[in-house]
Amino acid sequence: MDFDLKRGKPSTQDGECVAVGVFGKDELCAAAQDLDKASGGTVGAILERGDLNPEPGQTLTLYNLSGVDAERVMLVSCGPEEKFNDTTWRKAVAGSAGALQAGGTTRAVSYLPDLTVGDRDPAWKLRQAVVATSDALYRFDRMKGEPNLPENPLEQMTFALTSARVPASAERGLREGQAIATGMELARDLGNLPGNVCTPEFLASQARKIKKGKAKLRASVLDEPEMEKLGMGALLSVSRGSKLPARLIALEYQGGDKKDAPVVLVGKGITFDTGGISLKPGAAMDEMKFDMCGAASVLGTMKACEQLGLPLNVVGIVTSAENMPGGNASKPGDIVTTMSGKTVEILNTDAEGRLVLCDALTWAGRYDPAVVIDIATLTGACIVALGHHPSGLLGNDDELAGDLIRSGERSGDRVWRLPLWDDYQDELKSNFADMANIGGRFAGTVTAACFLSRFTEDYTWAHLDIAGTAWNTGKEKGATGRPVPLLMQYLIDRAG
Ligand code: BES
Ligand code: MN
Ligand code: ZN
Repeated sequence: MDFDLKRGKPSTQDGECVAVGVFGKDELCAAAQDLDKASGGTVGAILERGDLNPEPGQTLTLYNLSGVDAERVMLVSCGPEEKFNDTTWRKAVAGSAGALQAGGTTRAVSYLPDLTVGDRDPAWKLRQAVVATSDALYRFDRMKGEPNLPENPLEQMTFALTSARVPASAERGLREGQAIATGMELARDLGNLPGNVCTPEFLASQARKIKKGKAKLRASVLDEPEMEKLGMGALLSVSRGSKLPARLIALEYQGGDKKDAPVVLVGKGITFDTGGISLKPGAAMDEMKFDMCGAASVLGTMKACEQLGLPLNVVGIVTSAENMPGGNASKPGDIVTTMSGKTVEILNTDAEGRLVLCDALTWAGRYDPAVVIDIATLTGACIVALGHHPSGLLGNDDELAGDLIRSGERSGDRVWRLPLWDDYQDELKSNFADMANIGGRFAGTVTAACFLSRFTEDYTWAHLDIAGTAWNTGKEKGATGRPVPLLMQYLIDRAG
C-alpha cells in the first residue's frame, strides 16, 4: 500500500472517502466540523440520531454529502475526549483502516493524525498511523490454494492535516512508519510460515535476500562444520536430533562510520521446538513454529534499518536450529562445551533457546558491540508473569534497560523489567558441569536470563523475552511482528 501526506480542507479532498474523528457520541473534531459546515449541518444531525457506536475504532459511513467533494465520509469513534490517548487513537486508526478496506475504498484520506493525542508530535503520529494501518490490513494467505483477497483492496492511504503547512518532521515520521511496517510485515510472514517451509536454511536464504543489491548490507552464514571449529557445542547440541543442520546468520548494516561500535541484535531462531527428548505435550504444539519469532524480528529490523538508511551500524545475528527428538538428539544429563569454554549440563532438552543463544552471544563479542540485545521466545514462565501485553526485559545495564522501556512506551510495543539479581544465580548449579541449563520451578524467566548473563559479561546487554508477545493464539492466531516497533524506535532514537 502507498502512504502519503498532505494538508488541506476535508470538504475539498477528492478521494473516495474522507475519514474524520468523533469523540463521545457526537463531538466533532476540527476536520469533522469542516465537513459539518460544508454539508449544512448534516454530519452533526446524523450523529445526534445516535447511529455511530461510540466504542473507539467503530465507524459510520455517509454517502454523497452535499458540499463535500469526496464520495463518502467515514466518521470514526475515538471514545470520550477526556479518555483519549495513544491506545484509543491507535484503535481509531486501525478500526478505520479495516472498515475502509471492508467497504471497498481503494483511495482514502484520513484526518486522524490531525487530532491532538496528548503531547505526541507530528512525527510520532505519522509513524504510528502508518504502522497501525498496515498492521490492521495485514493478511497471510500465501499458503492457501485460493487466497481470499479483498475485492477492492485499499491501495492509497493519504494522511491529512488541517494545519497551514506539513512539518518536515511529519514527512520523516511517515517514512519511519513505512520502514517499520515493512519490517513488521517480514517478521510476521516469517513467523507465520510453517516449520516445514521456514527452516534454518530458509532463514539464511532470507538474510541473503534482504542483502541482495544493498550496498550497506553484508550477509554471512556459518554452517555446522564452521560452528564445530569455533567450538559452539551448545548450539550444535540442539540441532543434533534434527535432519536439518543449524545455521548462524549475520546481517551487517553499515549506515554509520566504519569505526562506530555497532548495536548487535541476536534473535532466537528455533524453527520448530518439539522440546526434543524432553518432549512437549501435544496440545497447541503447532504454535512452536513461532519459536523463531526473535530471529524474524531481527531480520525485519535489519530490513527496516536499510530501507530507512539509519545513520548507525547495526548487526543482526540469527541463531537457528530445529529442536527434535531422534537417535542422535541430546539427552537429559548430557554435558556440552560452549564456545566460551564453559560447560553446560543439559537437564532439560526443552530449554534449548538459551543453548543456541549462549554461543551466538559469545560470537557477538567479536563485533566489539556498543550494546547487545537478544530477542527470544524463551520461557513460558514469561507469559505466566506478564501475560500477553509487555515483553519481558532483563539485562546488565540500567541505562540500556531505561532506553528500551522508553522506546517501548513511545512505540506502544512495551516491555516490563524483571530483576536479574545474583540471588537467583545459585539455581543454575550443577553437580557435574559449570552450570545446568535450567533452574528450579520458580522465576523461570529470570533464571533463563541468569543463564544468558554468564555469556554477556564483556558488554552492555539486554534480553527481551517475547514468549507472550510474538504471536496471538486462538481465533486470531498469527505472528504479531513484535518487537520490531520497539527495536526500530530504539534505533531511531539512538541515531538521533
Ligand atoms: N520456546 C519455549 C518457550 C515458550 C513456551 C514460548 C510456550 C511460548 C510459549 C522454550 O524453548 C521452552 O520450551 N522453555 C521451557 C523452559 C523450561 C524447560 C525450563 C518452558 O518455558 O517451559
Ligand atoms: Mn523449548
Ligand atoms: Zn523454544
